[in-house]
Amino acid sequence: MLENQNGDQRAQWGSRFGFILAAAGSAVGLGNIWRFPYIVGENGGGLFVLAFIACIALVGLPVFMAEVLLGRATQSSPVGAFRRLSKPGSPWMIFGWMGVAAGFVVLSYYSVVAGWCMHYAWLSVTTTFNGMTPDQIKETWEEVATNPQLCTFWHLIFMVITVSIVVAGVKQGIELWVKILMPMLLVIMAVLFVYALQSGKFWEGVQYLFVPDFSKWEWKRSLLEALGQGMFTMSVGMGALITYGSYLRKTEDLTSTSLTVGVVDTMVGLAAVLVIFPILFAAALEAGSGPGLVFVALPNAFAQMTGGMLLAPLFFLLLTFAALTSSVSLLEVATSYFIDERGWSRSKAAWGTGGLIAILGIPSAISGGSVLFGTELANFTGQFPFLFGKGGKNWFDCFDYLASNWLLPLGALGTSLFVGWNLPSDLRATEFKQGSNMTWLYPGWVILLRFVVPLIVILIFLNGVGLIDYLFGSPAVGGSEMSG
Ligand code: TRP
Repeated sequence: MLENQNGDQRAQWGSRFGFILAAAGSAVGLGNIWRFPYIVGENGGGLFVLAFIACIALVGLPVFMAEVLLGRATQSSPVGAFRRLSKPGSPWMIFGWMGVAAGFVVLSYYSVVAGWCMHYAWLSVTTTFNGMTPDQIKETWEEVATNPQLCTFWHLIFMVITVSIVVAGVKQGIELWVKILMPMLLVIMAVLFVYALQSGKFWEGVQYLFVPDFSKWEWKRSLLEALGQGMFTMSVGMGALITYGSYLRKTEDLTSTSLTVGVVDTMVGLAAVLVIFPILFAAALEAGSGPGLVFVALPNAFAQMTGGMLLAPLFFLLLTFAALTSSVSLLEVATSYFIDERGWSRSKAAWGTGGLIAILGIPSAISGGSVLFGTELANFTGQFPFLFGKGGKNWFDCFDYLASNWLLPLGALGTSLFVGWNLPSDLRATEFKQGSNMTWLYPGWVILLRFVVPLIVILIFLNGVGLIDYLFGSPAVGGSEMSG
């Protein structure tokens, strides 16, 4: 069982702590620091934060545990995991394949965003935002986002770094690097947090986070965004945690490690809001400006404040590190597939898949400045709202939309149904309880996997194809689409 086709011993984490750091590193990423703060802003905080925490508890965590369980039980990456636990030729296999495919899709554009972060880290060291006017800062962002060569360059650099870590292996590569990067990430976060604390606007940030602004809350849209964010930030839905779980010793405790990761991930998201908004408020800037929040609003704030020249590079370094510990988990899924199932060497698998993903990401990198992958594609996709959502999307937006609204929820649905209904119940129970001192969680977990997760995910789909609008009337009461 422990051997792959090369006959090698299967790689393993050096310690339980190594696994927790790697899994937390996968979970904590651009989703927490780049995406979560502006989504909180767009949905008015308060109620949205509650809904988000509920989604982590009811969907993110149970599926997280199911994935780690599948990986630990089979000692295989997604394709092998579904194959070993189902009958030959069974349709469950599809979810394993989908996971590998989703890894390609997500990493291809994730790396582009990570590339922007690296470019901004570089920019803030070399040219500093100090002294720039708000208009110049906005122009800088527009120039970056529409410059195909620049975006491609940083995207490729980021992919090379990601591959270099994965090539070095589970223990000597991923585990070693998360042990370096995660503490650095937490330290940088703490420094920025202390800065926000003494900015004089910390309480405004706390209010922003916890006091609801009902004019921005819209039941249907906000709940769905809370769910999507809850799944993305916990890295579930494509077998990244099956793969990481497969390097875990069978005796390791599944429950407490998963809970730890869930808590760390949620805390980092909340802390990111409490770092970013006090800084914005201290600079008297408007909050909630969409995906550009981190690349436009924050440099503005840094430009105005004393110490901004130091804090800006620190912040973008933080983003880059967070992205890197996530991107290695995305690449490891495809890499481990070729190692386990095709008998490839690790370096061939990592460079091969990494190279393909790098190529696949180029259209995303040039979307902002290309006619074909930008406006023309947007005109085309605009004709299929049930597939791509409202409004035309360029290549980058399409990939993001397809992954977060189709591939990941489908993967999470498959995993929860498979583990909840298809696994023999004695196997499921022993695997869950092995090494755990929280076995009382078991019955509740099974109920979540069997009923709650599938119901919630199916609701997203119905909403995605517009059925909910059709059944309950549109537009929904109490608010409008207010994205920035
Ligand atoms: N969770 C990461 C973030 O918040 C992104 C990520 C890593 C991911 N691996 C994943 C998302 C697997 C979905 C599936 O940025």
